[in-house]
Amino acid sequence: MEQVIFRIQRFNPDAGDKEPHFQDYVLTDDDLPLNESTVLDALNHIKWYQDDTLAHRMSCRSAICGSCAMRVNGHTKLVCRTQVSSVVRDGVVTIQPMRNMPIIKDLVVDMKMFWDKMQAVEPYLQPSDPDPEKERRQDPAVFKQYEFEATCIMCGCCVSDCTVLEVDDAFLGPAALAKAKRFVYDDRDGKKRERLQKLSGPGGIWDCVRCNECVQSCPVVVRPMDAIIKLREAALREGIGTETVGARHVKFFTESVVKTGVLDERELPMKAMGMGWALANMGTALPAILKGKIKPPPLGRHKVEKAEDVQRIYKELEEKK
Ligand code: FES
Repeated sequence: MEQVIFRIQRFNPDAGDKEPHFQDYVLTDDDLPLNESTVLDALNHIKWYQDDTLAHRMSCRSAICGSCAMRVNGHTKLVCRTQVSSVVRDGVVTIQPMRNMPIIKDLVVDMKMFWDKMQAVEPYLQPSDPDPEKERRQDPAVFKQYEFEATCIMCGCCVSDCTVLEVDDAFLGPAALAKAKRFVYDDRDGKKRERLQKLSGPGGIWDCVRCNECVQSCPVVVRPMDAIIKLREAALREGIGTETVGARHVKFFTESVVKTGVLDERELPMKAMGMGWALANMGTALPAILKGKIKPPPLGRHKVEKAEDVQRIYKELEEKK
């Protein structure tokens, strides 16, 4: 790599910018050894030697503090641990601020929404016996159930890449839900049921569409989507939220596959959303089917050979649980 173009999104409302725009900066090996540099090294070099109006955040430079999260070629990363050589495409690296949060300036976003959502899940231990003097030891085996979520560095990468937050800002989002799981699975906490009840409501665990973006963007090992699935399991085990659309979807999905070996897509929307929803949406579905925009559901059920094998696998899994 002799030179790399860093295509950086700029936006400064205080200077009268109405819309973000891109600005290119060229760095060569004479500026800094590009093969051995991180994207943060490049940003610092640009700011210190080419354009001191560029705004970006950083602190630890060691993937610990979480302040340098931004989008590189469309995906959110900690730039202090992202090598330029791993992201350069045809000589260009595109850098933008995190998504789903308002931009303050250039690559700096306002994370108030992130902290509000985190606060909403009450991210602190609430023991049944609130004696402040009492030592509350944790059994290592129980800690193992939430050790990954406990490693969150609050960088916001998962929130930036969340596809639900893109369209629904009422969703609690992957970071806050992963934090909630950390407390639901902590047996020293006395608010498990209350937490699960709240998390099963609108904007909660059933609104995740399981796109896996948060798992891919998390720079540590939190795996927020898996945490959300674990919260769903905990809620259903406690008999909470069983009548939500998401819970009915999961229930019918399982029943259908276990019974017939295949998902019955004709019945799924009605079982999950209810007959009222199905009738109300006939007006949209019918013209779409007639114009060939969507396929009509098959009339007969697809037969699966050896469907009893699926039942056997399911039974074995249930016994293992
Ligand atoms: S600067 Fe601290 S995580 Fe990147």
